Amino acid sequence: MEKKPLDRRTFLTYLGTGATALAAATSGLGVLTDKANAQSDSLMRMKPRKKGFKFHPIAPTDKDDLVLPKGYKYEVIASYGDVINKKGDTFGFNNDFTMYFPIEDSSEHGLLWVNHEYTNPLYVEGEKNGDKYTAAQIEKMLYNQGGSIIEVQVKNGKWTLNKDSELARRVTGLTPFALTGPAKGNAAVSGATSVQGTFANCSGGRTLWNTVMSCEENYEDTSEAAGLDQTHYGWVIEVDPFDPNFKVRKHTALGRFNHENASMGLAKDGRVVVYMGDDKKDACVYKFVSKGKYVEAKGKENSKLLEEGTLYAADLQKSKWVAITIEAVREKAAGNAELLEKFKTQADVVVNAHDAAILLGATPTDRPEDVEISPLDQTVFIAHTNNDKHGNIHGHITRFFEKDGDHGAEEFDFEIFAAGGRQSGFSAPDNLTFDSNANLWTVTDISSSKLNSAAWTSFKNNGMFMIPTVGPDKGVAFQFASAPKEAELTGPSFTPNERTLFLSVQHPGEETEDKANPTSTWPQVRGGNQPRPSVVAITGFKF
Ligand code: FEO
Ligand code: CA
Ligand code: CA
Repeated sequence: MEKKPLDRRTFLTYLGTGATALAAATSGLGVLTDKANAQSDSLMRMKPRKKGFKFHPIAPTDKDDLVLPKGYKYEVIASYGDVINKKGDTFGFNNDFTMYFPIEDSSEHGLLWVNHEYTNPLYVEGEKNGDKYTAAQIEKMLYNQGGSIIEVQVKNGKWTLNKDSELARRVTGLTPFALTGPAKGNAAVSGATSVQGTFANCSGGRTLWNTVMSCEENYEDTSEAAGLDQTHYGWVIEVDPFDPNFKVRKHTALGRFNHENASMGLAKDGRVVVYMGDDKKDACVYKFVSKGKYVEAKGKENSKLLEEGTLYAADLQKSKWVAITIEAVREKAAGNAELLEKFKTQADVVVNAHDAAILLGATPTDRPEDVEISPLDQTVFIAHTNNDKHGNIHGHITRFFEKDGDHGAEEFDFEIFAAGGRQSGFSAPDNLTFDSNANLWTVTDISSSKLNSAAWTSFKNNGMFMIPTVGPDKGVAFQFASAPKEAELTGPSFTPNERTLFLSVQHPGEETEDKANPTSTWPQVRGGNQPRPSVVAITGFKF
């Protein structure tokens, strides 16, 4: 059927009648310029296609499965507890961000970085004994967060995990990390130059030099339970999936907050720019701009660019990026002894980045989570998940237009690109990713306790949606996937040939109180009924 812009209400009525011959969702055809192609190739390692994606959108459902459009299928490639390498390391809990790193340019063999965000005591460390965890429980809690590097390959037409891999390894809450940047060795981090472990790893991004950035989000509970220094967490970490000798590091110049993700672009003058969300209510959108310039020939040495630069936060009213510097903070704090005591150096500023940003007039927004750059025109998309403090129940996606299209600009304009709610069919947009035709794919994060009730009834389970950013269906959401019960879909990422989409299914059956009666039994691996967070490979993409 020929594609026509679909009025959302008509669309839902259509679904309600059970009609299957829906218009396929295609978009963005033939509009990508040569310039966009080049940008897309360097930043996303994808080449735009002449034809867009096609699928028959699904209807919302509360089925306890990962439901996909007709003709698409998923394979579970790694679940909590799976052995991932020869050494016997195991896959952590609550997988989130995924990023595929091809081996020899293959879209069918590579390393997959996977974040592990948090544990559930019911399935991992067990309940506290009194008000404390034992050392063994804490070790489990720390081991099952961080990241997994797994080796995945298509064998006999099926994606498989290489359990004997020599390349696969874990980075956990027990792995030693180096600090870089202004806070390294400073009193603001208790003088530390290296710290123990990474945890609360939510989303992330890829650097131009092919390493992974992973973001420490809600670190507070784990660091408190484990008796670790709070100032050592809430950073962006960098890991080279291919090289265990690359010292894993935390870049303090990028600020410390509840980091959702890190998305890298290049300023017109060659400086590296990293856009970041801070996932809490009334928090700011940030970008870091390096002092030095990117030199491709320097390869992984470019990592040094993340050690020195300017951290900015967005002032939406003035449409300006505010530089979060110690000089500006102290000028603003003049006469306030408490603030002058709190902020003495740039280390104090990066450690307390949110407080500094708010002090300097940056705008508190509605849970800025993922931030991604369009391969089409380099505009910047921000998922504002929701904020019940001001009645933004279903969230929205904001789009920033940097002045002159330059990621290094200090001014920008913005629009609300899409809003959650009945009219759009989605609520609580969280992680974002683009395909090479500039379709924005978003997964939703309605909290498990609210799913299928009250204001969230019509959305049913959490889902995944494709939203064209150009063409007649610009801003219209087409549902591509529905999650198992009480699960959140997270961390979507494509292979370079876009024939496979990796996706995390996080916390299925999260509201379970009694292990004998789980609220979800997905994905039924290893013959058990225990719900297991898992990463899947989705195939069947047609162009
Ligand atoms: Fe971990 Fe903001 O989701
Ligand atoms: Ca998230
Ligand atoms: Ca979330």
